[in-house]
Amino acid sequence: MTEGVFGRESGHEQVVYCQDQQTGLKAIIAIHSTALGPSLGGTRFYPYASEQDALEDVLALSQGMSYKNALAGLDLGGGKAVIIGDPATVKSEPLLRAYGRFVESLGGRYITACDVGTYVADMDVVARESRFVTGRSPDEGGAGDSSVLTAFGVFQGMLASAEHRWGSTDLRGRRVGVAGVGKVGRILVGHLVEAGAEVVVTDVADAAIDRVRAAHPSVTAVASTAELETADLDIYAPCALGGALDDDTVARLRAEIVCGAANNQLAHPGVEKLLDERGILFAPDYLVNSGGVIQVSDELRGFDFERAKRKVSDLFATTKRVYALAEDEGVPPVTAADRLAERRMAEVSRLRSIVGPTSVR
Ligand SMILES: NC(=O)c1ccc[n+]([C@@H]2O[C@H](COP(=O)([O-])OP(=O)(O)OC[C@H]3O[C@@H](n4cnc5c(N)ncnc54)[C@H](O)[C@@H]3O)[C@@H](O)[C@H]2O)c1
Repeated sequence: MTEGVFGRESGHEQVVYCQDQQTGLKAIIAIHSTALGPSLGGTRFYPYASEQDALEDVLALSQGMSYKNALAGLDLGGGKAVIIGDPATVKSEPLLRAYGRFVESLGGRYITACDVGTYVADMDVVARESRFVTGRSPDEGGAGDSSVLTAFGVFQGMLASAEHRWGSTDLRGRRVGVAGVGKVGRILVGHLVEAGAEVVVTDVADAAIDRVRAAHPSVTAVASTAELETADLDIYAPCALGGALDDDTVARLRAEIVCGAANNQLAHPGVEKLLDERGILFAPDYLVNSGGVIQVSDELRGFDFERAKRKVSDLFATTKRVYALAEDEGVPPVTAADRLAERRMAEVSRLRSIVGPTSVR
C-alpha cells in the first residue's frame, strides 16, 4: 500500500517526518486531532520493515489516542510518534535528544510519553530537550511507571462489567483468567486476589508466572493462552499482546466478560459483533486501559498520584455509561464507546467558537 496522508478519511491534522543523519534518528510524529487540546501519546521505538509500515502504524495509533483521551475525559487530543529502528542497537542519548528537539519544535501541539521500546529513563533524556514530555521518572517530576494505574483502571472496568452483567461488583468466587502477567497483568492479579476472585494465569515467560505465584500463592497457572481461553472462567483478561480476540478465540471462549489491558484486542473489525452474538460482554480495551495515559497526563499539572487515581476511578462510571448507551442504541460496546468519544470531541471543540476576552486580540 502506498497511500499517503492526504485524502484519508481519518483526517489527521499534521504528520511530521524527523531526520537527524548523525544520530540515525528517523521518526514520524502524527497529530490526529487537537479538538480537545494538545495531542498526547507515546513514542514507539520499533524496527519497522519500511517507512510505509511506520507511517501506517503512527496514523492508526494517533487516531486511537484521540478516542482514548476523549473517552478518559482528558482535555487532550490524539497524537503518537514512532522512531524507526531497533532500540537495542540504535537507541542513544544523542538520538533521543535529537528526537526531543523535534518534539520541542512543535511548540506543545504534541506531548510525548513511553510506549513499546521506550522507557521512563528515555523520557528523562528526551525531556532535556523538550518541555513536552510525560512518563518521566519521579526524580524528574514525572509519574513513573504507568502500569500501576493502568491495572487499577482495568480493575474498575471489570467491576463495572460485573455489575452490568451480574448486578453486583462482588467478585468473590468468580473465576478470572489473566493472559500475560507482565507489568500490568501482575498488578491486576493483586487487585483480583484482594477482591476474593479465583485467579488463573498464563504467560510465555515462566519467570513472570513464578513472580505472581510467589506474591499470591492462591493463584493457579495453565500452560498456554489457548488453554486459558477454553477454561471455565467468568472473566477473561487479555493482558499480553494485541489481536487476542479473533473469530476462533471468540467461538471457544467460555467467559461471560472480556476485560483486559492489552491494546487492540479485536483482531479485525467485526469481532465485536461476534462477541455480542455470543452474549459475551466486551469492555472496550482503549477505555479500560486508559489509566496509564490518565496517570502520565497528570504530570502536566505537577504529578499527584491520589488525584490521578481518583480520575482513574471514574472509569467505573464511564464503562457503565458505555454499556448503557450500547443497550439504548443496540450496538456493541466498542461502537458505543466510539460514539461517546466522537460526541465529546465534537461538542467540546464547538465551544471554541464562543470567544472570551482572553482570546480576543
Ligand atoms: N503498561 C501500561 O501502562 C499500559 C497501558 C495501556 C495498555 N497497555 C497494554 O497492556 C498490555 C500489557 O502491557 P505491559 O506493560 O504489562 O507489558 P509487559 O511486556 O510488561 O507484559 C506482557 C506480558 O505478556 C507476556 N506474553 C507475551 N506474549 C504472550 C502470549 N502469547 N501469551 C501469554 N503471555 C504472553 C509477556 O511474557 C509479559 O509477561 C500491552 O498490550 C500494552 O500495550 C499497557
